[in-house]
Amino acid sequence: MKRIYLIGFMGSGKSAIGRRLSFLLKIPYYDMDQEIVKKMGMTIPEIFERHGEPFFRQQEHEFLKTFRDEWCIVSTGGGVAVNPSNSKLMRQTGLVLFLDATFPDIWKRISRDVNRPIVQASTREQLEALYTTRKRFYKATAHITIRTEGRTLRQITEYAAFQVNRLKSNDF
Ligand code: S3P
Repeated sequence: MKRIYLIGFMGSGKSAIGRRLSFLLKIPYYDMDQEIVKKMGMTIPEIFERHGEPFFRQQEHEFLKTFRDEWCIVSTGGGVAVNPSNSKLMRQTGLVLFLDATFPDIWKRISRDVNRPIVQASTREQLEALYTTRKRFYKATAHITIRTEGRTLRQITEYAAFQVNRLKSNDF
């Protein structure tokens, strides 16, 4: 196993947990969105606006295929695991952890976020429908599902670290 991937819907805590897990396990951490932003020299809303969503999805796929081959933690964007070739790649190159948050918790965190074009372009009902559709992709991609409801960031991080330590010698 090389990488530890965090997957899940927008606002499920992938970046917050990724950073904490990196600190706890002493493994480098990368945020896929931030890597794409750096490479393109544009924000996510700018990439969506100027190049469109399919182009952004291509960038995500390129990242997975070409990013450095090292022992690291990667938080993915909420749409990454929906593409079957991304899912396959992630499962082949690492351990995939799904942060399973409830929609009301997610909504509280993302409803006012101007940096997420999909949130900007959708109603609450549309987002909830997307959440429901995507959930089965996250579940099918993940090696481990971590329910986050009622747990602190610290508890979630410690549980994720426990799973990584338990499974790190496995060959995925
Ligand atoms: C997206 C999620 C975002 C970002 C982009 C699209 C999605 O990442 O990749 O705005 O389709 O769910 P986060 O899940 O980190 O918010």
